[in-house]
Amino acid sequence: MSESEVKLYYKNVSADVIGDEHGITKLEFEDLGDRTSLLIPQINKQRKAGKTPYRDLPYRPQIADQVREVVAEVKDGCEILVVLGIGGSALGNIAVQTALNPYMYNIDETQRTGPRMFVFDNVDPAQFASFLNWVGGKLDKTIFNVISKSGRTAETASQLMIIRQLLLEKLGPDGFHNQVVATTDARAGTLRNIATDAKLRSLEIPDGVGGRFTVLSAVGLFSAAMCGVDIDSLLAGAAAMDEKVSREDFAKNPAAINAAINHHYYNNGKRNSVIMPYSYALKDMADWYRQLWAESLGKRVDLNGRDVWVGPTPIKALGTTDQHSQVQLYREGPNDKLFTFLQVKDFGSDLAVGPAPDCADELGFLAGKNMSVLLDSEKKATEYALLQDERPCLTVLFDKVNAHTVGQFIYLFEVTTSFVGALFNINPYDQPAVELGKEATFALMGKSGSYTSDCTYEQFAEEIRARTDIDEDCLV
Ligand code: PA5
Repeated sequence: MSESEVKLYYKNVSADVIGDEHGITKLEFEDLGDRTSLLIPQINKQRKAGKTPYRDLPYRPQIADQVREVVAEVKDGCEILVVLGIGGSALGNIAVQTALNPYMYNIDETQRTGPRMFVFDNVDPAQFASFLNWVGGKLDKTIFNVISKSGRTAETASQLMIIRQLLLEKLGPDGFHNQVVATTDARAGTLRNIATDAKLRSLEIPDGVGGRFTVLSAVGLFSAAMCGVDIDSLLAGAAAMDEKVSREDFAKNPAAINAAINHHYYNNGKRNSVIMPYSYALKDMADWYRQLWAESLGKRVDLNGRDVWVGPTPIKALGTTDQHSQVQLYREGPNDKLFTFLQVKDFGSDLAVGPAPDCADELGFLAGKNMSVLLDSEKKATEYALLQDERPCLTVLFDKVNAHTVGQFIYLFEVTTSFVGALFNINPYDQPAVELGKEATFALMGKSGSYTSDCTYEQFAEEIRARTDIDEDCLV
């Protein structure tokens, strides 16, 4: 049986479809091909030299084995799985869960193949308190998977400190040890120290893989495996896409084509990149993509140290929901966006619309039609409407949404990001601009000692307050 596939459809960015002003002409496409082709061997070489270790995650069976080992130890008797993490330590887990488990997974136990799952990637006290009130009586049936490369991230660290106290109070000294699985750096860092000290079960975040590229490591695989996702198929899907995105022939390499088109439009005034799944299951993939794109591609300096201030703005939308919210702007607002639809051929289940009531003959045309046909028609209708206004549209076509195709999609967009980074001549694997906000939070939360060689955290906090405390004179 042949596996389901994910493919990129790019006809609707061509000048033949949307005209010369906004479309890509044959000559331009050839030129994009020539320039991007030069990067393919370069990117393949970097990968072989071990410079992009995320590329090898589908081929490291020991990671999945370690995950399975911990799952086997904790799954029995676990009714609730809580992931504590943020950014790259949370978004992939959410996206995989939404994609591969039924909508009612947490509510309906007949639709569940593992524990209920919750991900906390925020420090909203009302949200967390409400959850802790609910989970308080079930702590011995709850596993907390704390994910943090450093362990110093204020959000995750504070969540961990709250649940540690709760577990110690409610379950005694063994509570923390038994109910927590730490996913962190293999050797160093605050969370590794905590895990060693409390003899926590632990999993490793691979060296050299930044948070937003870790979903195919223990970071994403543990919660997936706990909740019944076929992680071997997820990894096999990624490996299948690896073959395609390594192809040296530009015309056959979907990541190279996707990147070249995105880069072309960024340079031609379309600095916003809308991703719009027409599948509820894929809605959180748009969130995962948003972080991948933004943190990887938003950069001040290029690899030569020149100020470039580049980066397309990723925008998430959901079909059909956002047709009734965003499409007015998408059609009649500025033509400054590239649209990427996610379309699914086979939803696995379907529903026929019932007959129209006698008093509503005008709805008769919908009667008996499948909901999947309506969703598909809405995607085509929206795409058509955008094309009428010369808006470029790509489609990522899924045969089905399953672990194999989700693995393909993740890998396709990760490697696309590497290609766009190379086209911008920037480093897509760091996130230096995130640091200032993290350090400022530490200062405001009372950290002491030296922030820099000539500034303490206390002085830094004063400087922040001077600029951000509410000035009553400007409050109306
Ligand atoms: O992609 C990234 O590197 C970030 O989003 C991190 O994942 C995020 O900041 C959390 O960091 P940590 O895993 O150290 O807690």
